[in-house]
This record gives sequence, C-alpha cells and structure tokens, in this order.
Amino acid sequence: MKKVLITGGAGFIGSHVVRLFVEKYPEYHIYNLDALTYAGNLENLSDIENAPNYTFIKGDITEENFINELFSTHKFDSVIHLAAESHVDRSITDPLAFVKTNVIGTMILLNAFKTCWSDNFEDKLFYHISTDEVYGTLGETGLFTETTSYDPNSPYSASKASSDHFVRAYGETYGLPYVITNCSNNYGQNQFPEKLIPLFINNIINNKPLPVYGDGNYTRDWLYVKDHAIAIDLVFHKGKLGETYNIGGFNEWKNIDLVRLLCQQMDAKLNRVEGASEKLITYVKDRPGHDLRYAIDASKIKNELGWKPSVTFEEGLEKTIKWYLCNENWLHNVTSGAYKTYYQKQYN
Ligand code: NAD
Ligand code: DAU
Repeated sequence: MKKVLITGGAGFIGSHVVRLFVEKYPEYHIYNLDALTYAGNLENLSDIENAPNYTFIKGDITEENFINELFSTHKFDSVIHLAAESHVDRSITDPLAFVKTNVIGTMILLNAFKTCWSDNFEDKLFYHISTDEVYGTLGETGLFTETTSYDPNSPYSASKASSDHFVRAYGETYGLPYVITNCSNNYGQNQFPEKLIPLFINNIINNKPLPVYGDGNYTRDWLYVKDHAIAIDLVFHKGKLGETYNIGGFNEWKNIDLVRLLCQQMDAKLNRVEGASEKLITYVKDRPGHDLRYAIDASKIKNELGWKPSVTFEEGLEKTIKWYLCNENWLHNVTSGAYKTYYQKQYN
C-alpha cells in the first residue's frame, strides 16, 4: 500500500486534498501531519476521520527529531507538502514565524525524505505546493508563466520562494524527485476568515465594516479550492519530475469588483434589500508592499495534463456563500478566542 504523507491537511486547501485522496484512492494510506495552528481545524475532516486508509498525526514540521523519527517509522513513499504559514498580513507583523515554518520546516522535510530513502528514490515523490506570489507583482498587463523570474515582495512570498529554491536545489544536487505547483488565490469552503472572501462573508453576516485596503484596485486571479485539489491530484500522478506547473482560474478580479459581486450575492441569500451590504464597504489603510496584480498563465497544465477549472467564479462563489451560511457553527468556533485579538490588532 502506497504511503502518502500530506502536511497541513487540517488547513483550508490541505483538507480538500486529504478528502479527495482518501475517497478516491482506497489503495493508498493517507497520513495527515498537521500542527493544528490557529489555521488548522480537524472539524474540516470530520466526515472522513474514521476512514480505514486515513491517519491523523499531530506534529510540527519544524521539530527535526520528531520528523526524522516519523519518516523512519512510516517510510512515506510520497509527500504532498502544504503545511505553511499562509497569510500575508501575518507575515508583515511576524516574519520570523514564516521563515521557521515555510523555510526551515520544508528543509527538515526534505532532509528526512532524503535520509529515509538513502538517495534511492525510485517511485518516490516530493510534491511542494507553492504560490504565484513568488513571482512578485504584474503591471496592468502580462501573465506569470513558469519561467517568470522570482521577485517576491512580502515576507510570506519571500519564504515561499526560498522553500521553492531549496526543493529545486535538492533535485539538482541529490536527485530528489520533485514537482512544484504555483497557484493563484483559492476560495471556497473551510477557508479561515482572515483571507478576503471568508472575512467579508463573516462581516456581512454580522453587519460589520468591510475593510478594503487602499483604493481596492488590486487584482487577483481566483480559483475554486476543489479545482485546485483536482489539479494537485493530476500533477501528483501525471506531472513530470523536476517540473513546475502554474495553476490558475483564468479569472481575474479587481478587489472592489469582487467585493461588490459578493455583496450582491449575500444580499440575495440573506433576503436583504439590494445595496445593503455594499454600504458596509470601508476603505482602510493599504497593506505595506501590496502587490498590484497577480495573473496566471495556466496553459502548461492545461495543454500537458488536460486540467481546467470546472466551475465559473459566480458558481463557486455561490457554493462558498451557501456553505458559510449553512455552517455558522464552524464560523463561530473559529472566530471566537484568539481571532478576536488578531482582528483587533489588524483592523484596529
Ligand atoms: P492554511 O493556513 O489554511 O493551512 C495551513 C495548515 O498548515 C494549517 O492546518 C496549519 O495548522 C498547518 N501548519 C502550519 N504550520 C505548521 C507546522 N509548523 N507544522 C505542521 N503543520 C503546520 O493554508 P492554505 O491556504 O490551505 O495553504 C496551504 C498551502 O498552499 C500553503 O503552502 C500555501 O502557501 C499554499 N497556497 C495557498 C493559496 C491560497 O490562496 N490559500 C494559494 C496558493 C498556494
Ligand atoms: O496568490 C496566492 C496567495 O493568495 C496565497 O499564496 C496566499 O496564501 C493567500 O493568502 C492569498 O494571498 P493574498 O494576499 O492575495 O490574499 P488575501 O485574501 O489576504 O487578500 C486578497 C486581496 O484582498 C489582496 O489584494 C488584499 C485585499 N484585502 C485583504 C484583506 C484580508 C483587503 O482589501 N482587505 C482585507 O481585509
């Protein structure tokens, strides 16, 4: 039985990847390693927690002895590495935490994987999940391709860029078999309400201001999280070793336009008068070093592996809103306690 270690599987994207693999591949054993930081939540996986091919392991990727022991006990054939500190605003207030988890944690995993297989890597794979933010920012035109130079601007993207470089260096130096994917902004069920879409959904529900950074004219490319999980499955099984694939939604939105669409859909779902939620929009101080625009050219994964997004943004957003409205308990649980302190500090 193939043993697949998924790190960060209790987080937003990780939980969708874990579920997809547990359900689709009964012949694999899926190990979910997660430190359960503020962003990790086992409620995300309550529907599959008793599956016979699934094991949860609570642990921190920065604890070297623990990780080495784990690899020597379980001898994982493959790693899908998602564990990370993932929020740009938090990286601005605490950059070192991002270096620790995203850089050192990745190094510790790479070393453990390398030692475990004594450089005999047949049928093994280290799959590193990264972000389009490593490419820096675009102007009004152009797209990030797999050959765009790295030019990260935030401590978060610098830490992800650094971990990408180490994965590639281990490939070149030790022959470690790897693939890397760099994806655009994900949205969907189970996303922690520090990121734009779930934060604004939660604020609309509670009639709180919607803090739009700067003039709101920043642009992001949005991808439904389940489509990202499908792409990860495809790259895991069919991706070429040593390659990078960009993953994106072919779906660019200026923040302010996205927020207006969200407000309209929320008004309809909450039976509020048209325009009620838009009145909550409040322009606030900009994020330092705010990247103007991200846009992905995802033609490589489309042409070589046949992947494309399966839902339109309007459909995906509607599914997302519906999920948050039907799971107010989940929202309540993750926004009580430490979230309040974070919110107060970030939005004053
Ligand atoms: P998330 O913050 O929702 O989840 C991260 C998970 O990692 C959490 O479950 C957390 O408990 C765990 N974790 C954090 N530090 C850990 C440590 N030291 N040891 C073990 N587990 C730890 O993140 P996400 O949005 O699901 O992102 C997952 C990955 O995808 C990240 O690597 C991120 O950089 C990348 N990514 C995210 C997006 C996006 O839009 N969210 C887009 C592209 C790439
Ligand atoms: O591009 C991929 C990246 O997308 C991932 O690697 C990151 O993990 C993920 O967090 C995301 O980064 P962003 O910084 O783009 O996402 P965020 O949801 O924080 O912000 C989206 C846009 O909305 C950005 O331009 C900042 C703006 N914003 C965000 C928040 C939280 C606001 O205007 N107000 C807010 O309160």
